[in-house]
Amino acid sequence: MIAKVRKAVFPAAGLGTRFLPATKAQPKEMLPLVDKPLIQYGVEEAMQSGVQNIIIVTGRGKTAIEDHFDVSFELEHLLETRCKKDLLATVRAVSDMIDVSYVRQKEALGLGHAVLRARELVADEPFSVILSDDVIDSEVPCLRQLLDVYEFYSAPVVALMEVPPDAISAYGVVDAEPVAHPGGQNRLYRIRNMVEKPKPADAPSNLAIIGRYVLTPEVFRSLDSVEPGSGGEIQLTDGLKHLLRSRPIYGYRFEGTRYDAGDKLGFLKATVEFALKRYDLGEAFRSYLKTLKL
Ligand code: G1P
Repeated sequence: MIAKVRKAVFPAAGLGTRFLPATKAQPKEMLPLVDKPLIQYGVEEAMQSGVQNIIIVTGRGKTAIEDHFDVSFELEHLLETRCKKDLLATVRAVSDMIDVSYVRQKEALGLGHAVLRARELVADEPFSVILSDDVIDSEVPCLRQLLDVYEFYSAPVVALMEVPPDAISAYGVVDAEPVAHPGGQNRLYRIRNMVEKPKPADAPSNLAIIGRYVLTPEVFRSLDSVEPGSGGEIQLTDGLKHLLRSRPIYGYRFEGTRYDAGDKLGFLKATVEFALKRYDLGEAFRSYLKTLKL
């Protein structure tokens, strides 16, 4: 029987330079989309996908993330004495939500390096990786879509999305052939090769890797053997490329809308769209937007 994916690794040690000055003294993972920090969207996606065990790879200046998922006695006490039941439930839901472990990445040496730091906590089992910058709004959680493919083929799977040529250099890009998959609506690919942040002219396709991965533990050995790549960092894409020599890897063009919430414009778009969908804010926010002279 195929091993179940129980763990999700959240690399969260990056410096968040794309979002300065907001990220000078605050982790970018804690930037609120409407009223929830970015990382909570990712954690909820993992839980809704059936993955309960959360591993957060943190770094210096990231204690707010640990506090967020911890119990806050003072706040709970205050809300209790003021009879704010709804707020109390919201606050408790976050700390009750997960079984979370932390590991430090002492230096920001790249995504592959961050994933390697989780090696001992992951141990010898398949696991998932979620980049909380990539917020994905979908009917079926994006990670669940990948897990369905993993459970069918028993092989690593990465999320894919088509991106325009002028944006392709910001991503890991795959060379891949379509694979017929039961009920798959031409979304599944078998990956032949991949390259991290290619120049537009060198990009093997318009299919970019988006921050959701289902991986098997052999990826750690591959990551051990890769040299620093794009940006002088140990890249997860390079580790996966190495793994391709010994294992098939699949790509799944997921169903849903992805926002690059690590980018200022992407963050604004996500904020507006998520606020419009909120049952408690959507109507008032829509009316307000209509009054703007655009
Ligand atoms: C990372 C990965 C890249 C992937 C991207 C998705 O890059 O290295 O392969 O396409 O996430 O968001 P970053 O955005 O951290 O530079």
